[in-house]
This record gives sequence, structure tokens and C-alpha cells, in this order.
Amino acid sequence: MNILLLGSGGREHALAWKIAQSPKTDQLFIAPGNAGTASVGTNIPLDATQFESIKLFVVENDIDIVAVGPEAPLVNGIHDYFLDDPVLQNITVIGPQKASAMLEGSKCFAKEFMQRHGIPTATYKSFNDGNLEEGYVFLEQINPPYVLKADGLAAGKGVLIMDNLQKAKETLTEMINGAKFGEASSTVVIEEFLKGIELSVFVLTDGLSYKIFPEAKDYKRIGEADTGLNTGGMGSISPVPFACEKFMQKVENEIIIPTIEGLQQDNLPYKGFIFFGLMKVDDQAYVIEYNCRMGDPEAESVIPRLKSDLVELFEAVGNNNLDSTTLEIDERYATSVMLVSGGYPESYEKGKIIEGTGNVSNCILFHAGTSLDVEKDEIKTSGGRVIAVTAFGNSMDEALQNTYVNVEHIHFEGKYYRHDLGFDLHTNS
Ligand code: AMP
Ligand code: GLY
Repeated sequence: MNILLLGSGGREHALAWKIAQSPKTDQLFIAPGNAGTASVGTNIPLDATQFESIKLFVVENDIDIVAVGPEAPLVNGIHDYFLDDPVLQNITVIGPQKASAMLEGSKCFAKEFMQRHGIPTATYKSFNDGNLEEGYVFLEQINPPYVLKADGLAAGKGVLIMDNLQKAKETLTEMINGAKFGEASSTVVIEEFLKGIELSVFVLTDGLSYKIFPEAKDYKRIGEADTGLNTGGMGSISPVPFACEKFMQKVENEIIIPTIEGLQQDNLPYKGFIFFGLMKVDDQAYVIEYNCRMGDPEAESVIPRLKSDLVELFEAVGNNNLDSTTLEIDERYATSVMLVSGGYPESYEKGKIIEGTGNVSNCILFHAGTSLDVEKDEIKTSGGRVIAVTAFGNSMDEALQNTYVNVEHIHFEGKYYRHDLGFDLHTNS
């Protein structure tokens, strides 16, 4: 089979690495990819949001499966574009249609969906230009911290949490009237603050049945002990020690099954990954957010634990027979530490030479922001998150040790990473 994978981050390298291992894969293309994906497939300089050029490529190269890494092409309707075109409609697209991708594309849509289907989530109200005054009243009625969320996509930055009531009111005004996040914050969800510990749960579905992939914990803040600014993710750990069988069963019964059934009841077709961002409060799980794709940097620890053939699973999603497949999971821990550019998530320099990638052992490197300088045969940094180092272990600590040993072998000017992954998991296991 010929496969086209859309995206360019660490998640896409992890998916490409896995797809390339399948005996079913003839040719793998990644658009646009990075220096890492170039080692397992062919990078092509296509923009994932330019559907017409994707069509030309797909037809010319006889593509059977298009797997979509990031959310933007899905929210923009790439799956619908394929279904609406007689030439493309039989090609399997991994990623939901636009209407279903709104689970990620609109917080209001997701909250209404959860309310309709009895899925546990923080209580909330939504506000816009028409009822801004009611928003101030609502803020006065609830307890801090105040959680304000831009309704639309805001590159992971649209959630603001603050303790001060006056500041919350000002922020609400800035979001709605001042277009703080552009059109994305013309509507704002204000919700109850949930105090607990987060985890990410992933499901692959063909819309009828589903397979639960390994869960993971990601580390979003730049600083040790979860301090400082939010980032795209500083690393991940899978499995999550506190996600015991009993808890995961509860997640399946109270969240996963009602979500799949809810999609069916609402006539929302869904083929692809559902990412459940959960908060565990005591023994109860609440949905903080849905995403319509795999997580990044969760994929870098989750995908290596998948023993089953990912292409076979994707094929089953296309054929509506995912229920006939089995998921085999590596029982070991996988931990993944992201090396980032100095200064990230604020301003940082690019184009730094990356050295030492050949000196690692017993680990997997997933490139995120890297590019290949073909003339000089050098790999250079091209983004904030540069490279994820993933290693296995029989315990979380052993996996972390194997990961951190290798982290030391890779060098580029300004390299930064968190030394404390897993710090919050010892007391919760
Ligand atoms: P989201 O983009 O909805 O995942 O929110 C970003 C981050 O904000 C989450 O990963 C949580 O750490 C935090 N967050 C979001 N909603 C809540 C909430 N209701 N209570 C506590 N923290 C939250
Ligand atoms: N790790 C969070 C995300 O992929 O959105």
C-alpha cells in the first residue's frame, strides 16, 4: 500500500517510523515531514492545507491511505474533500470529517456534546459579544481559579487560568471584544476549575467499534516541577502508573463508550484517533478536552508500545472492520524527553547544527523541528521542539534512566530539556 502522512512534528515521525515497519507498506510519503521522517520515507514539500495539490499527488502516486497528523487539515475539511470527490472517495482518510473534528475545533461544541451524552466534564457557560455582562456575573458567582477558554483553535494557547476576579473580567473582555485570539475567542467558555492530575487517553475508531491505545502523561510546562510557560509538550510517559485497570475501566464505561455512541446518535461520522484529555479528580475522570488526532508528544511514547501493525489497523478503519483486529501492546514503560531550543516557548534561534544522533543506543529518536541540509549533510534545528528521545524500561525509572543517558549524547547550541519527567507520578501510583 502507498501511504501519505500529513504533518511535520515528532508525532508524525513516530507514526512514520511505525508505518514504515509494516510489511503492507510499499511507499510512504510524508508531507512536509522533517529530517527524521526522511529516514523512513520520502518527504514531499506539500502544504497539508492545500487540498488540490494533495489531490494531484495522491492521484499521481496511487495513494491508498492518507493519515492526518495535525488537526488543522481535519477542521478545514480534508476528509470531506476526499469524500466529495469521485476520484478520491475510496481512499481511506485517517482523521474525522469536519463536523466531527469540531470536537476539537470548538470548545462549545465539545461541551454541548458532552452534556448531551452525560459525559463527565467541568460545569461551564459560554459567552460572546451578546451576553458579555452575564459573563461578568457568572465569574462573580463561581470560585477561583477562573478557567477561560477560547472557543476555537488557538494553537494550544487559548486556555487562560487566573486567580484574580478583576483580571478574569478584563481577560474575558479582551478575548471577546479585543479578539485576543482572533476569531477563536469571539466566544469564550468559562468553566469550573478541576483540581487533579491529567492524563491522555487515545482511541482509534472506525465509527462503529474502537481500540484503546496505551494512555500517556505529557509534560506541558517549560520548567521543572510543572512551572513556567506552557509549551507544545516537553515529553511523555506511557503507561501512566495511576491509570490502574479499575480506573481505565471507568474511563471506558463513562467516557469512551458514551463518546462513540454519542457520535453515532448525532450522525457524526468518525474514522481516526480520538484523544481524550482527562483530569483525574479523586477516582473520577473528567474530560478537559477532545482532540481529533494523536497527541504530541504522547505519540512518541505511545506508538513505540504498539506491537500490532498500524497499517493493518488503518486499513481496518477504512473497511469498517476494526472490531476484527486485535491490539497488542508492549507491557514495558516508554518515556520520551523533548529536547528544545534555548528560549522556547518564547523566541529562539533556528539553524543550529545537531550532533551526536549517531552516538545513541537503546533508544529511538523522533525528530520534531529538524531539517536536513543536503549539501552539507547536516541536520539542523528548525523549530522550538527539536528532537524527542524515547527509551523503554521494565519500570518507569528504568525507562527514564535509559532515556536520559541518551539525551546527554545529543548536542546543539542552546539545548534545553526537563530533567524531572515522572516527578509527579511516584506518589500517585
Ligand atoms: P485544553 O486546551 O482545554 O486542554 O486546556 C489546556 C490546559 O489547561 C489543560 O491541559 C489543563 O492543564 C488546563 N485546564 C483546562 N481546563 C481546566 C479545568 N477545567 N480545570 C483545571 N485545569 C484546566
Ligand atoms: N499533548 C497535547 C496535544 O497534543 O494537544
